[in-house]
Amino acid sequence: MLRTNTCGELRIEDINKTVTLCGWVQRVKDLGALTFIDLRDRYGITQLRINIDSDSAISAKVKSLGREFVIQVTGTVIERENKNKNNPTGDIEITVSEINILNSSITPPFTLEDETDGGDELRMKYRYLDLRRNVVRKNLELRHRLALETRNYLDKQKFIEVETPVLIKSTPEGARDFVVPSRMNKNQFYALPQSPQTFKQLLMVSGFDRYYQIVKCFRDEDLRADRQPEFTQIDCEMSFVEQEDILQTFEGLTRHLFKTVKNIDIPTLPRMTYADAMKYYGNDKPDTRFEMKLIELNELVKNKNFKVFDDAELVVAICAKGAAEYTRKQLDELTEWVKRPQIGATGLVYARHNADGTIKSSVDKFYGEEELKKWSADCDSQPGDLILVLAGKEEKTRKGISELRLEMGSRLGLRDKNKFSALWVIDFPLLEWNEGDPNLLASLAGRWHAKHHPFTSPKPEDVELLNSDPGKVRANAYDIVINGVEVGGGSIRIHSKDLQAKMFEILGFSKEEAQKQFGFLMNAFEFGAPPHGGIAFGFDRLCSLFGGSDSIRDFIAFPKNNSGRDVMIDSPAEISEEQLKELFIKTYE
Ligand code: AMO
Repeated sequence: MLRTNTCGELRIEDINKTVTLCGWVQRVKDLGALTFIDLRDRYGITQLRINIDSDSAISAKVKSLGREFVIQVTGTVIERENKNKNNPTGDIEITVSEINILNSSITPPFTLEDETDGGDELRMKYRYLDLRRNVVRKNLELRHRLALETRNYLDKQKFIEVETPVLIKSTPEGARDFVVPSRMNKNQFYALPQSPQTFKQLLMVSGFDRYYQIVKCFRDEDLRADRQPEFTQIDCEMSFVEQEDILQTFEGLTRHLFKTVKNIDIPTLPRMTYADAMKYYGNDKPDTRFEMKLIELNELVKNKNFKVFDDAELVVAICAKGAAEYTRKQLDELTEWVKRPQIGATGLVYARHNADGTIKSSVDKFYGEEELKKWSADCDSQPGDLILVLAGKEEKTRKGISELRLEMGSRLGLRDKNKFSALWVIDFPLLEWNEGDPNLLASLAGRWHAKHHPFTSPKPEDVELLNSDPGKVRANAYDIVINGVEVGGGSIRIHSKDLQAKMFEILGFSKEEAQKQFGFLMNAFEFGAPPHGGIAFGFDRLCSLFGGSDSIRDFIAFPKNNSGRDVMIDSPAEISEEQLKELFIKTYE
């Protein structure tokens, strides 16, 4: 070992010890006769003290040091005169007797401190330097801890980790695939898995009973703060279970992680049906850290000569507690906010429930005091509250009010990152009509699409509806939602060949297509497939939630940017003509 101790380790008890430390030069403070150096490694920072007069060989080396030089020092631990209470090693320093420059460094392109002057793109280009920063390193340490505790819990529950292949077959379901050309099989392509879904089901057919894998998944879809083209799942599957067993087992995992990693006891997870989530939150992943439920006002507001409401499919309100003081300027700004293309509302109606009990709205012309009192009663507003109303097409308006609810939650400080509110959303619809989802292949438009995936079983009592009214069929599917983030999702699977074939038929596959794409799975179901079900947690999302960040990138060592690029290694990139030829690939303009 080139060192006896780490830079985060030494304390007052170590005084008089001779130690050797290695690390990076964080800071050099030249006070003339004395120089102080902050030496940093993964574990912390230790102050070095160098008496410049005493040894000219050391002095020369110290003078040549710059930020991020890698050095090895030997010296004695002494008590510090000016103790630093903010640093665990702040009671001591090392008087250096020997210094060895292990490597030099050119000046880093941004400061490697908690608060850095480096912009996003620059930090990603030099991610290996960014990772030296405390805050970023801590995120990866948290990720490690969560992975470890996940394995501990699942191992105790008799799950075994099995690796599944990464070069698999493209399927037209779900998001778009990343594909990999095969040199040995002309004009044929592997696809990278969007998840190990079919493999874990096959493992159940094999009798493995309880499987898990912390596994990379790949999806070629539009990217956002909580989406990366390659991301990690805690992927799990169990045999001989019903939905209730899965909810219990993975509520247990969630509770274990909160307890061991954050020392938080979370209450039993409430369960909300998809229908209620949409009705009360406008959203299938409700942020339940705060109430502010949606209130439908259709019945109350129609036929009062206000055309906007009369023409609307949906008139829906939220009641923002304590926001009646919002100024005209703030309300105008909020109106502009809902008019942005992301929300696309035509306007915002508001009613202030003033402290004196009067209610004044932006549509007083159409709604008198008595009417507004009814609004107030439906919205349960109190003096001091602000009622905000959106109206328009059903789906868009629901989505819009849901966004407005989150925005008001943020503005009113109701979305505390240190508070956690977890729940299960259950009874999802099995299918949804695909009008032309940009994240799916164009050829899938104008068909039913599996809301979760095509292996999800319908609720037995709804199976009959598969023929008559497929859109009404509910699935044995569930999501775990924490603070408005869809952290995981899963379902009880179909394990009968006939039902699976029926499902593919509803999804618009011909018998031949279904056999070609998924024959391996349906055939396996003929060899004694046990009833089974499972779930996958988005591991990056779980990490960012635990770390109090909105961006999963902060918790991935080498993430991609919003265009799916790794700016550090400059990928994706062109390949040579020779490679292209070997792969039988022509490029297009
Ligand atoms: P699903 O598609 O819901 O289910 O994915 C499970 C969880 O993975 C996370 N996730 C993502 N995280 C980061 N970037 C992405 N692009 C991304 N896409 C999804 C989400 C999501 O809840 N095979 C099924 C699971 C099952 O049925 O057992 C599946 O993949 O947190």
